[in-house]
Amino acid sequence: MEAVKACARGERRLVASVRRFRQRAQNYYFRKLARYLQPMEYRRVKEIRSRTDPQISVPELLYLRWGIRAFRPRTVVEIGSFNGASTSLMADQVQQLGVGKIYAVDLFAQSTKSKGHGGGYWRAFDHTMQPYTGWFEKIEGDSKTIPWNHPIDFLFIDGDHSDAGVSADIMKYAPLVQPGGCIFLHDYADSPETNSMVKTAVDRTLMCDPAYRLLGQVGSVIAFKKLHS
Ligand SMILES: C[S@@+](CC[C@H](N)C(=O)[O-])C[C@H]1O[C@@H](n2cnc3c(N)ncnc32)[C@H](O)[C@@H]1O
Repeated sequence: MEAVKACARGERRLVASVRRFRQRAQNYYFRKLARYLQPMEYRRVKEIRSRTDPQISVPELLYLRWGIRAFRPRTVVEIGSFNGASTSLMADQVQQLGVGKIYAVDLFAQSTKSKGHGGGYWRAFDHTMQPYTGWFEKIEGDSKTIPWNHPIDFLFIDGDHSDAGVSADIMKYAPLVQPGGCIFLHDYADSPETNSMVKTAVDRTLMCDPAYRLLGQVGSVIAFKKLHS
C-alpha cells in the first residue's frame, strides 16, 4: 500500500515538474521573441529616420508608429511634412498594413527661408517618399487655406508652430476627425528648445474639450482620441 502511495506521489511530482518546465520554456521563448521583435521595430524606425535629416526623435516616431498600427486609419492627414521623416514612417506602416493613405500638407516649394527652413527640403521629401508611391499624396500649400473637407481618421499636426497657426490647424481639421479617430501633435513641450506655443494652443483647445480623451505623450508628441463630434 505504502509503495502504491509513494508511486502516485512520484507521478504527481513528475507531472507538476513537466508543467513547470513547459511554462518556463514558453515564457523563455516568449521573452526571447519579444526581445527579438522589439529591436526589429526599433531598427526599422531608426533606419527610416536615418534617410532624412529628421526633426523628430526615434521614441516619438515609435509612438506615431504605434498610433498608425493601433488605429489602422484610412485617411491620415499630416500638417507639416518637411523632408518626410514622419511622413515616410507613417507611409511605411500604412504600406505594411495594406490600408490607408497619407495626405502630406506642407508649404513645400512655396516656403521661403523667412518661414523657417532653407530651400530645397521638398526635393528631399520627394526622394524620401519614392518607395511609398501610391500610399501618399502631396498637398502643397498653406494648411489654413488649402481646400480640405473630407473626414479624417488620423491627424498629425506639426506645421506652423505659432499659437495662431496651431490653433487654426486644430479649428480647421479637428472637427473633421471621426469619432474613434485620433490627433497627434508634435512639439507639445514647455521648454525653450521646443516651441511652447504648441502647448499653449493645445491646452486651450483639445486638452479641455470633453470630445477628446488624452491618450498619452512620448517626448513632445501628444495624442488624443476623439470620443464624439
Ligand atoms: C517641424 S517641420 C515638420 C517636420 C516633420 N513633421 C518631420 O517630423 O520630419 C514643420 C513643417 O511645417 C511646414 N509649415 C509651416 N507652416 C505651414 C503652413 N501654414 N501650412 C503648411 N505647412 C506649413 C514647414 O514648411 C515645415 O516643413
